[in-house]
Order: sequence, then C-alpha cells, then structure tokens
Amino acid sequence: MAKHLKYFLLFSMLLVLASSTLYLGNLDNYSDQVIPDYITLDNTTDNAITDAGATLGRVLFYDKQLSTDKTIACASCHHQEFAFSDTSFVSQGVNGVTGRHSMRLVNARFSSEEKFFWDERASTLEEQTTMPIQDHAEMGYSGEDGSPSIDDLILELSELDYYQQLFDFVYGDSEITEERIQIALAQFIRSIQSFDSKYDVGRAEVDGELMQFPNFTPSENRGKRLFNQAPIFDATGNRIDGGLGCASCHVPPEFSIDPESRNNGVVTEINGGANFQINRAPTLRDMFNPITGELNGPLMHNGRFDRIQGAIQHYNRIGDLPPFVIELLDPRLRSLNNGQQLNLTDDETNDLINFLHTLTGSNVYTDPRWSDPFDENGDIEVNDGVTSTHDYSQSGFTMSPNPASMMVDIRVQGTSDAVEIYSQSGELVQRFSTSGTTVSLRDVSHLLSGVYYVRVIDGSKSTVEKLIIQR
Ligand code: HEC
Ligand code: HEC
Repeated sequence: MAKHLKYFLLFSMLLVLASSTLYLGNLDNYSDQVIPDYITLDNTTDNAITDAGATLGRVLFYDKQLSTDKTIACASCHHQEFAFSDTSFVSQGVNGVTGRHSMRLVNARFSSEEKFFWDERASTLEEQTTMPIQDHAEMGYSGEDGSPSIDDLILELSELDYYQQLFDFVYGDSEITEERIQIALAQFIRSIQSFDSKYDVGRAEVDGELMQFPNFTPSENRGKRLFNQAPIFDATGNRIDGGLGCASCHVPPEFSIDPESRNNGVVTEINGGANFQINRAPTLRDMFNPITGELNGPLMHNGRFDRIQGAIQHYNRIGDLPPFVIELLDPRLRSLNNGQQLNLTDDETNDLINFLHTLTGSNVYTDPRWSDPFDENGDIEVNDGVTSTHDYSQSGFTMSPNPASMMVDIRVQGTSDAVEIYSQSGELVQRFSTSGTTVSLRDVSHLLSGVYYVRVIDGSKSTVEKLIIQR
C-alpha cells in the first residue's frame, strides 16, 4: 500500500511537471463546442475559432511577458474562478490601477453587440485585445513618454522559443504581428462559453422564454417573468402593473446587451465626472460564483454595487436621479420625462434575485482548456512532436471517447489487474478490478466535468493517462 502510494505520488509529480507542456498533437477542443440551439447571437465576423488559434490565445492571455515589468497578464485582472472578472473594485496594472471595474469575459461571443468595453470604444473584439497591452496603467506598452511600444513587445516575444513554435504552428511561419496576436486572443476569448446553468437546463425543456421552466422553483419562475415583462407606468413613471423590463436591454437567452441600449443612469466615473456613454454590460450570466453564491465582482463600470440588491434598487428608483441624468437616460427607463419608479416589493426583489442566480454555470470556472498553461515558475514548453503523454500506444491502454461524458471505453494492450480514476487533486474517485480483461466499458456519468487521471495497474507496473470529463 505504502509502495503504491509512493508510486502514485511520483506519478502525480510527473503529471504536475508535465502540465506546463502544451501538446500540439493533442489540442483542446475550442472550435467544436456544443452550443444550445436556442442561442442564436454571435459576433464572430471573419475570425472563426480554431483549436490552434485559441491555444495560442490561451498562452498569450496567461503570459506575464505581455506587460512591461513582467508581473501582469490579462488573467491578472480576468480570473477564471470569477468568470474572468476581478473581485477587486479596480484592478492593479503595471503603472497603477484601472479606471473602471474589470468585465467578465464569459459568453462574450454570444451577442449582436460587436463593440467592446463599458463605453464601447473598441469597435471589435479583435481591436480590443491589444488595447490593454498598450494601456499605460494596465500592461504598459503605450509607446508614450519613453515607455516601450507594442513593437518593442513583439521583438521581445520573438525571442521566446515557445512563441516561435506557436506562431509557426498557427500561421505557417513564426512572424509575430499585432494582428496575429489579436486574432488568437479574440479566438480564445470567444471560446469561453457557459451554457450549463440551471436556466439552460430549463430553457432546453420548453419552447419559449416565457413558458414556466419545469426545473425552476415558483419564485425563480416569478423572477423570470418579472425580468422579461415590460412594466406598465402611470403618467408620473410609477409602475402600476407588468414586469420590470430588464429583458429589453439584457436580452435572453444570451442575456447580452441590446446594441441599441443607452445609459442606465449609472454615470459616475471612478475618477470623477459623469459619462453618459456607458452603454454596454457583459452578459448577466455568471454574475454569481457557483461555489460561494457571492458576486464574482462588484457591479457596473464603476463597481458601485457590491451586492445585487444595490443594482436592483438603482433600477427601482430611477426617478430619484437628478433631472439632467434622467434626460439623457435610455428612454426604456423613463415614462415621458419621469424616471421609472418600479415600486418593487420585497417578494418581487427576492424572486428577481433567485432568478438571476439561475444564470450561473459551473464548468467554465474550472475547465482546464481556459486555465493557466504556465507552471508556477512561469515556464511553458511546447511539444510539437508526435510522441507525447497522449500517445496512447506508448502507455499500453487507450480511452475513448476522450473527452468523455457518460461512458468511457478503456482498452488495455495486454493484461491488467485494476483501473483507478483519480481526481486532479490526487483523490481516488473510482477503482475497479479488471482481472485480466482487455476491454472495459465504464460508466463515468457520476463524475463532474474536469480533468481526471486514469491509472491502469498490471502487476507492479502502472501507467497513467489524462481523462477529461466534459458535458
Ligand atoms: C490591469 C487590469 C487588466 C488587464 C491586465 C487586462 N484587462 Fe481586460 N479589462 C479590464 C478592465 C478594467 C476592463 C473594462 C475597461 C473599460 O471598459 O474601460 C476590461 C475589459 C476587457 C474586455 C471587454 C469585455 C466586454 O465585454 O466589453 C475584454 C475583451 C478584455 N478586457 C480582455 C483583455 C485581454 C485580452 C487582456 C490582455 C491582453 C486584458 N483584458 C488585460 C482590466 C484588465
Ligand atoms: C435601458 C437598458 C437597460 C435596462 C432596461 C436594464 N439595464 Fe441593466 N444595464 C444596462 C447598462 C447600459 C448597464 C451597464 C451600466 C454601467 O456599468 O454603468 C447595465 C448593467 C447592469 C448590471 C451590472 C452588470 C455587471 O456586470 O456589472 C446589472 C446587474 C443589471 N444591469 C441588471 C438589470 C436589471 C435587473 C434590470 C431590470 C430591473 C436592468 N438591468 C434593466 C442597461 C439596462
């Protein structure tokens, strides 16, 4: 037993070491993910996701080499465990903090809005991706006041072997350009998708948004109705009937912003002054953390609300805003010249909050394909050969399909005594004896999505392979 444990620890260590190796012969699936058929919006133009391009995008996204002092990556302000946002009110860059709250990057693709940033100053996602690199505060390659420019960054990146390999692999030669960086980063960001929420389970079971979802509690269904239905106002902007009208701007089932949306009355900038051009919000999906139930970060461009109740109160009492703000509001939040008063009851507020919680998924927070590919020392290795730990002919057993969802077929070449499945943290989750058989179809439907290690034991020898469970 003790010997087995020692072997296993050794294997785990090898796997941890190997985890910073990217195998170009065995790329993660970014290009062919399952998208529910009720999802129709897509802001991809001519830059379709490829597995190779998104893999390069992943490396760039997590690489601190992209900042002047080598301490900040995109991921420093966009954390996977918080839906690629930041729990801080503002985020730390190389030369100070950001002027606005970081945005969640989940489902950025599924929107008819093509412009990006809170104030929509980037006309495409591609254009957006190199703006943080060139921002003096964020990553520092601004080229202003003696700071290095993006051309200096490109020269630096060209010195790195892994980028030589990756750019060559993706584009056919190793030249690095700003456009190539943009293409890859945009593919990676568009690949980040989340459609395994309670909402999606319900939505898949009905024919329309407004139908009662069978998997929802009565409160969640009431909250959904409030979110979707338009309010009915009296002449002074008091809601006397109907719902809350959220869906006219945060349009389901994507919950992405209506491209026609104007500002919602949250106009104060963190650095002072009023800005009436804040017309974009990330999808309202994945605002809450699936594990803690807390917000993944404060809400709105100025991070003004650290509880959802605050944001809802804002919409409840738009009429209390100063007249010069109400005048410039999106007309959907007004009745004639009066800002809306939704007159929400406590029950209605709770129903709405319960509904908003159903929009959180779980896989996107841990799926390895969107995780940090570098090891703890910031190193990465690119293996472009055909032999890798994924070359199953080397290890004596095959698994298919891999990624698997319900069943996996494990075929051993030769004999085996047992098969064990370990979680990523090294915990044994399943063990079965195979008593010499070579074929075994196994039910893995009880395992959560994620990375597992399958170990086939034959006498005193054992081999380990990575198994991905994905649903
Ligand atoms: C220092 C923190 C920081 C870094 C580093 C950073 N971001 Fe951001 N990101 C933000 C903030 C803050 C915003 C919102 C800024 C605004 O709207 O003015 C944002 C917005 C975005 C958006 C817009 C999302 C939307 O829905 O409109 C995308 C996309 C994005 N970042 C991608 C990246 C990429 C790619 C990188 C690396 C090249 C990166 N970010 C680096 C903080 C950061
Ligand atoms: C007229 C269009 C419009 C309507 C109607 C609307 N919103 Fe918004 N919403 C926006 C805009 C624009 C933003 C971004 C504003 C900002 O950051 O200053 C936003 C931001 C938000 C945010 C913050 C998102 C984040 O990631 O920080 C939440 C939460 C929200 N809205 C919820 C609601 C709810 C709930 C309703 C219905 C009661 C609603 N909205 C109605 C346009 C609208």
